[in-house]
Amino acid sequence: MKTWLVSVAVAIALVGGAARAGTENVAFPKGYAENYVLYTTVNKPNAKSGDTLRKFYINKSAMAAYKASKALPSGTILVREDWFTKKDTAKKSIIGPDGKFVTTKKKAVVVSEKRDGWGADYPAGMRNGNWEYAAFNANGERNPKANIKRCFGCHLSKKNDDFIFTMKALRTAAK
Ligand code: HEC
Repeated sequence: MKTWLVSVAVAIALVGGAARAGTENVAFPKGYAENYVLYTTVNKPNAKSGDTLRKFYINKSAMAAYKASKALPSGTILVREDWFTKKDTAKKSIIGPDGKFVTTKKKAVVVSEKRDGWGADYPAGMRNGNWEYAAFNANGERNPKANIKRCFGCHLSKKNDDFIFTMKALRTAAK
């Protein structure tokens, strides 16, 4: 789309209230485990709530665009899925043959998503491009206790990597 067309679209969306900032813009990405690309899996020992296995997914259209342009397009959805680990009798997390924690049940799902027109309402010290963040419980319900401001604050430190921490893994997966 031409730049001026985008501007007009954004202006109309803002007047209509459609582009208002907020975590509610990010819907739970139903079916991501089946339909998205799993781009990396990471053991997170001693995460605040105990050992955690984290799986990272990206929607397919964003991955395709990333492969072509090395940039994440509007419409990118990234999912971090956290799992409880299985413990041995000494309460140590069991590591599987793949070197990853063996899991029991899903703990939580957090999502970052960017769309043209999002982000504009945030002050410069908080804004992360056009990204919005959301936190969900294991069953996909929004977690009302999540501190979304903290998501912005921490991810802001990765502004040279489009505000994401797993850029290196994504780059490797895109090869
Ligand atoms: C204290 C820093 C910190 C905070 C706060 C934080 N994150 Fe992250 N986030 C990370 C790190 C570090 C990673 C890389 C993976 C890892 O080590 O767990 C990550 C990874 C992610 C990813 C995968 C894409 C990427 O950026 O690599 C998503 C999605 C995500 N976080 C969403 C959120 C959401 C939503 C919140 C708020 C509810 C949040 N994060 C709060 C540090 C943070």
